[in-house]
Amino acid sequence: MLNVEGLVKQFRIRTGLVDAVRGVSFSVAAGEILAFLGPNGAGKTTTIKMTAGLIHPDGGAVYVDGKNLVTERNAVLGKIGAVLEGSRNLYWRLTVLENLLYWGTMRRVSYRQARSRAFELLDQVGLTDRARSTVQTLSRGMQQKVALCQSLMHHPTVLLLDEPTLGLDFESSEGIKRMVRTLSDSGTAILLTTHQLDVAQELSDRVAMIRGGQLILEGTTKAILEKYSQPMYSIISAIPWPLNLVDTARKVMGNVAQVSPDTLQLIPQDGDTDAIYRLLNALHPHPLLRVERHQADLAEVFQQVMSKGALA
Ligand SMILES: Nc1ncnc2c1ncn2[C@@H]1O[C@H](COP(=O)(O)OP(=O)(O)OP(=O)(O)O)[C@@H](O)[C@H]1O
Ligand SMILES: [Mg+2]
Repeated sequence: MLNVEGLVKQFRIRTGLVDAVRGVSFSVAAGEILAFLGPNGAGKTTTIKMTAGLIHPDGGAVYVDGKNLVTERNAVLGKIGAVLEGSRNLYWRLTVLENLLYWGTMRRVSYRQARSRAFELLDQVGLTDRARSTVQTLSRGMQQKVALCQSLMHHPTVLLLDEPTLGLDFESSEGIKRMVRTLSDSGTAILLTTHQLDVAQELSDRVAMIRGGQLILEGTTKAILEKYSQPMYSIISAIPWPLNLVDTARKVMGNVAQVSPDTLQLIPQDGDTDAIYRLLNALHPHPLLRVERHQADLAEVFQQVMSKGALA
């Protein structure tokens, strides 16, 4: 669906050149959500702006369904919807409805269809009663929702979301997440940038991490989380572990640590897949609450990847 190949962007500033994006390539298939993650200044917004045709790349190309953004600009832009950082694609002095109609007709939706689409979308985000308010009188969260509605006016098949849940309250965030899932289920290819790594983890099928204008990690969310999970088990007791059992555990397994009154931790030797069972046998029949294997979350992966650098 969306293919981004070798995008490059330099900005000229007073003191010289900034290499904002240095050869970024990725693709997003229909129905897929790609979380595009990286620290401040990594080049995410610049990449999104190039992909949405808002700034020209110095190198590389963007394709939607095999069509090149440069040579078939209108056809490609007709398939892309984008929500930029800080709802900057809205006209603050126009009303919500005017913004949506303006964008819809710009994207060649008929006036009548644009009107019904606008009210359909406003209903989904709970803003029907603000249709005639000027954008500048809305709260930041409401503006963010209007920006999302605007991006969806022409039924795009590729959606670029730059921090869509920034500053939203819990319920609004959940609402946007639901909309993103529904869109993905109906086949929209979605690129999602966010600093809320729990949101990224919940929504994404794949993850791409960028630092200093270059991708340093890319893969399915599941495989990445699996790869960064330690072979480490926690055995949580229903009551604080009795001292004699801790001693027993240590005698059976050298590498057992008590990390809290009710938690024993086991880090098996490489390849010792049987270790946890031997330990559990030794602890039998003490009442257990849980046995869990360490499962990395995206926040842990992000920290590790950003501190260590290039990986894949
Ligand atoms: N218009 C511009 N002129 C000069 N430099 C720019 C411009 N836009 C972006 N940059 C620089 O390009 C680099 C990448 O910025 P970008 O906005 O793409 O980062 P980002 O990953 O979106 O960061 P954030 O998480 O803070 O939104 C930064 O060093 C930034 O200062
Ligand atoms: Mg940004």
